[in-house]
Amino acid sequence: MLETPCHLLYEGKAKKVYTTTNPEHYIVEYKDDATAFNGVKKATLQGKGALNNRISNYLMQYLQTRGICTHFLQELSPTQTRVKKLTMFALEVIVRNLAAGSMAKRLGLQEGMPFKAPVLEFCYKNDALGDPLINEDHALALKLAAPSELQTLRAHALQINTLLQAYLQEKGIILVDFKLEFGKDAQGQIVLGDEISPDTCRFWDAQTRQKLDKDRFREDLGDVCQAYEVIWQKVSN
Ligand code: TMP
Ligand code: ASP
Repeated sequence: MLETPCHLLYEGKAKKVYTTTNPEHYIVEYKDDATAFNGVKKATLQGKGALNNRISNYLMQYLQTRGICTHFLQELSPTQTRVKKLTMFALEVIVRNLAAGSMAKRLGLQEGMPFKAPVLEFCYKNDALGDPLINEDHALALKLAAPSELQTLRAHALQINTLLQAYLQEKGIILVDFKLEFGKDAQGQIVLGDEISPDTCRFWDAQTRQKLDKDRFREDLGDVCQAYEVIWQKVSN
């Protein structure tokens, strides 16, 4: 059955979510808008939405072949994808393999310092508060997830890290860190939602250590979409 977007349910900084005629499906539309520092810095980057749509769908399908449940159903157009409807946790799950970004800043670490084991962080998804870093006790106190759900989120995120890190390493990309969002489907199963793209991951070229992700926008390094295109070529070849 052909599905068309019905009703705009939600518009975020980089995506729109529409309901469809199928109550169990949504359509996600990737925008060319880029923001950083909780929306303080803004730009429109022509072609970013289509690249993120393609990259995220490709990586989600790869993870599905490896037994990870994701919301991906079908790429409908260059910027639109049909996904499974999920009830999202108000949590961001971040996994880090090398020091970078907010963790490097907070703890005074040199960017690129490798960790012996991946570092997992939870953030409270709340724009008004700037998505603050929280610990598992905070997540429980705020009733963001049950104890067993936090354990599942942790296990899924670490498994996804192992799979993606190995896949990307073969493609000449270092997976520095990334952010995941999960939700529950109609059966109560915990499923990976949102996106996996250069907007939500740090990717470095394994040879040159050149940044190939949204840090190019955050740090005014230029050639943002060119870098996303390089990621698409490397990931899909
Ligand atoms: P951070 O170092 O700024 O905390 O970012 C950690 C990872 O999370 C990095 O790969 C980028 C991603 N991220 C998002 O996807 N959305 C956000 O709003 C932020 C701040 C980071
Ligand atoms: N996505 C966040 C924002 O819009 C922050 C970031 O990715 O750096 O502001």
